[in-house]
Amino acid sequence: MLVINTIRNSARLTLRNAWLRNSLASRTGPTNFSRTFSLGLTLRQQDVVNVTFVRANGERIKSSGKVGDSLLDVVVNNNVDLDGFGACEGTLTCSTCHLIFKVPDYEKLPDKPGDEELDMLDLAYELTDTSRLGCQITLTKEMDGLEVQVPATINDARAA
Ligand code: FES
Repeated sequence: MLVINTIRNSARLTLRNAWLRNSLASRTGPTNFSRTFSLGLTLRQQDVVNVTFVRANGERIKSSGKVGDSLLDVVVNNNVDLDGFGACEGTLTCSTCHLIFKVPDYEKLPDKPGDEELDMLDLAYELTDTSRLGCQITLTKEMDGLEVQVPATINDARAA
């Protein structure tokens, strides 16, 4: 009985897919359908950038964003539990999005920090030579697999 139901369901799916393909083909032509489908799928896979946030206690939080997102976007969009992170929502007034990069990753970042970011970094706790503000880092495909250290303490510069 199970085998018969499986065959029936498979036949229904095949018929439904054929109907859908024919329906779309009558509107856009069969070539357009397959091009649109495969291009959309390819772009989506290429846009994903995996990021791991490492807390001071060693806990690793795996997350992901897409090309063009900031590291603040990744934290917000994935509800990454980093207490107080991104308090000013990326307006460069708090320094709570302070992150520490590994040296090779830091050197590969496409942009150097501007004066405003450097001023904010001066107010961050646990500052290192490879510190950046997460709201100022825009993801590129080359950053896939990035690991960033989250300082143990944060300083909200607006509270000073
Ligand atoms: S979120 Fe406030 S400086 Fe980055």
